[in-house]
Amino acid sequence: MAAGHSDHYDVIVVGAGVVGLSCAWRTAERGLRVLVIERARPGAGASNVAAGMLAPVGEATWGEDRLLDLALESHRLWPRFAEELAAAAGGEIGYLDLGALHVALDRDEAAELRRRFELMRSLDLEADWARPRACRELEPGLGSVTAGVHAPHETAVDPRSLIVALAAAFEAAGGRLEVAEVTAAVLDRERFAGVRTQDGREHRARATVLAAGSWSAAEWLPAEARPSIRPVKGQILTLRGPASEPVCERIVVGERVYLVPREDGRLIVGATIEEQGFDTRITAGGVHELLREAYRALPDVAELELVEANAGLRPTTPDNLPLIGAGEVAGLLLATGHYRNGILLAPVTAERIAEMLESGHPEPVAEVAAR
Ligand code: GLY
Repeated sequence: MAAGHSDHYDVIVVGAGVVGLSCAWRTAERGLRVLVIERARPGAGASNVAAGMLAPVGEATWGEDRLLDLALESHRLWPRFAEELAAAAGGEIGYLDLGALHVALDRDEAAELRRRFELMRSLDLEADWARPRACRELEPGLGSVTAGVHAPHETAVDPRSLIVALAAAFEAAGGRLEVAEVTAAVLDRERFAGVRTQDGREHRARATVLAAGSWSAAEWLPAEARPSIRPVKGQILTLRGPASEPVCERIVVGERVYLVPREDGRLIVGATIEEQGFDTRITAGGVHELLREAYRALPDVAELELVEANAGLRPTTPDNLPLIGAGEVAGLLLATGHYRNGILLAPVTAERIAEMLESGHPEPVAEVAAR
């Protein structure tokens, strides 16, 4: 297509991470004409390095009740989302009912875990206190464990398989995915009317969805349309051993580490939480901390091969709540700011965005989050 050419869609989604593609797929399924624009490749941001824990109980924390409600709602949507996606894409996405075991490895950690357990109970979350023997019955590979909390309904998905499936399902639903860098907003009077890409082309749509993760506060947006998003760095490792002898069968969570087993023998070890701007260097300190804590929890990790070390950037808002809904400029919707929960919150984000796009009545971000 020549520079200067203008094309027209019902919806443009900027960003082909799990959130952007989920919104795009669910919207295309409703019969709208959708273009996704991605500057690198699908999942190139946080999605490709995420562990894929779908763990609302483990992520629950003090003072975040609205986020918890959203997380629980999305967790309930996940089984159907996974099933429909696998059917639409004709491939598996590594969705597993693993359950999670939170472990304390010394007395201080046990006191902290007890506090977290009391919180879980006060929020009516499904979790049981487990003594050391019960922990070891669940996970015989554990090291010296002082106490545990078993959250049996936590699940996981492989975000890389998820991205491939979402892209396939989206295209099968009639959507179009383009790799291009967005360089400017197209405004029609005060209204957002689309975007311009580096090759000079203009892409117009009735609505544009900003799903650019940590890059959502982009300079190409009008200043008043830029959401308050900052990147929070996470370093994460992939280990690998024989699939027939996994070092754990559940998600194992320590105070400073989580371990997520995949069916093929990989074990994801995550993740640091660092305020480092857009820095994505892998540091000796980060890798050391993750391996040290993984080894404390499950000593057999020492036998595994270290196959990858990555760093991703979590798109984070001041209150940790995602931005889902209409932003400050008419015609622009936000689907960003999911911090630690982008994969978990993808189904609920997609349902809400698709509904708003189909009805033509976008709701303001804060109201959507409060529902
Ligand atoms: N969801 C876990 C993390 O962001 O590290």
